[in-house]
Amino acid sequence: MPNAHSTDTVTGRDPSGADWWREAVVYQVYPRSFADGNGDGIGDLRGVLSHLDHLVELGVDAVWFSPFYPSALTDGGYDVDDYRDVDPAIGTLEEFDEVVRRLGEAGIKVVIDIVANHSSDRHAWFREALAAGRGSRARERYVFREGRGENGELPPSDWPAFFGGPAWTRVADGQWYLHLFTPHQPDWNWADAEVRADFLRTLRFWADRGVAGFRVDAAMCLTKDLSEPLPDWDDVLPGFPALVGGADGRGEGVLFGEGQNPIYDRDDVQEVYAEWRALFDSYEPPRFAVAEAWVAAHRRARYASPRSLGQVFNFDLLLASWDATAFGEVIRQNLGLAEASGSSSTWVLSNHDMPRHATRLAADPVNGTDPAGGTLDAPPPPGGTGLDRARAASMLILALPGSAYLYQGEELGLPEVSLPREVAQDPVTGKEDAAVPSRDGCRVPLPWNTQAPFFGFSEHAAHLPQPTWFGDLSVALQSGDPGSTLSLYRRALRIRRQLRTEGPVTWLDLGPRLVAFTRGARWTSVTNFGDTPAYLPPGDVLLSSRPLVDGMLPADSTAWLRNPASPA
Ligand code: GLC
Ligand code: CA
Repeated sequence: MPNAHSTDTVTGRDPSGADWWREAVVYQVYPRSFADGNGDGIGDLRGVLSHLDHLVELGVDAVWFSPFYPSALTDGGYDVDDYRDVDPAIGTLEEFDEVVRRLGEAGIKVVIDIVANHSSDRHAWFREALAAGRGSRARERYVFREGRGENGELPPSDWPAFFGGPAWTRVADGQWYLHLFTPHQPDWNWADAEVRADFLRTLRFWADRGVAGFRVDAAMCLTKDLSEPLPDWDDVLPGFPALVGGADGRGEGVLFGEGQNPIYDRDDVQEVYAEWRALFDSYEPPRFAVAEAWVAAHRRARYASPRSLGQVFNFDLLLASWDATAFGEVIRQNLGLAEASGSSSTWVLSNHDMPRHATRLAADPVNGTDPAGGTLDAPPPPGGTGLDRARAASMLILALPGSAYLYQGEELGLPEVSLPREVAQDPVTGKEDAAVPSRDGCRVPLPWNTQAPFFGFSEHAAHLPQPTWFGDLSVALQSGDPGSTLSLYRRALRIRRQLRTEGPVTWLDLGPRLVAFTRGARWTSVTNFGDTPAYLPPGDVLLSSRPLVDGMLPADSTAWLRNPASPA
């Protein structure tokens, strides 16, 4: 059995029951890039079904599927045409049920993505709104307004879109509609009762199919200040950076104000989640949710509260540089925040929106150099520190209390791939005023074996090109290599399963270059952020991300130890 659970002796919680998510390892599948079951180049549910053994052997507790709904893919599936179906290119509802059932048999739960801020512009209700014209009931489900200026030729407010440009697009009859992301993603009007009811129906639809929980996309965006006249961002928050502001790399995260921002992190969004919570709690076990909320650390508790979604992503490590002080502060702060909110912390090093951490952590902030990823023809330069740091960081987060969210391919140590502009799919590619850089480089299809050109991802095609050297990082090759990143993850997850209920963190002060702590009586984790080897405390080494050197912990590595005093 992949998941042998025991009751947490510290909290009395049973991790296989309603609280399973508090200490879970959740593996994110980006379906179109995981595995292609029918050779059309697009990953699909058949592909997932043919690689269940990978997930079982890795030893994850849950799989979170990024959107698989019908979509024109103007934003990688986060533009949803129909919330209660599977894209025919990805599979069928029956196949989805089979995925849930077969993962369930292996003790693995399924979490799905709920994209509630916006639909796609092909959603039946948006088409209806366009056709029905101004003043119609259909337009009330979205946010349509007259423009400013003499002839309504200016956007109704100064609100910016995340992906560049204004958050408003004009339609043929002269009205404008709101979209915080691309123009193909019109925002729902969350003040509308029918919209709210329809999402409850969607949540129930999937919960009834056996889904254990939901990752709530753009959770801080849903409600807006729609009072007339619409408030300008600049009036409410004068001089405030329009988008990603205030990320200081030390855990304060993204600042959007204190609930008065017209479009982000408004206090009234919690009324939506209170309704969702009632629905989640009507199930046995209660359905779980985690909020994707890019908000300041001190505002995260609102989303993590047991009366709200229950858990929230902590993205601070996506913004932190490789530095013992930075990592230490992020960890301390987030353990405290999670406890104060009655939730558990979350740890994220990579996802489908950020450069992969095997590349990102190699950045040299002192010299201001950009980390070198791979290109289609050349792997990252040899001797780089990125992969060492990535392995060390992954072991570090896996030793911490809380949920670890892993992104497909990080268990292979995949680097970011810089792709030529011609193959770009991500709508932010080349947009200077977007809040994020192009995200295609972390969405390249996975290498399963060494056979070029598609490396077992597909027989015939891949929707994004894979580098010529991808076979060297394939699952097949790494499976047989005890020193590989895949073997490290498998062993780390196995040890974590045995020890994760050990208890809270006690910090060890081993000097300024090290982050070290024990969990309960038995488990010690030490990470060396310095550039020379460091002494380890006494104990049996269970696992290390790099081989020890004369019993010392090398630079850019993590070791786990079993404390000497503990019973065998
Ligand atoms: C979230 C998703 C991202 C998507 C955006 C709009 O940030 O993670 O991939 O583009 O929401 O739905
Ligand atoms: Ca396919």
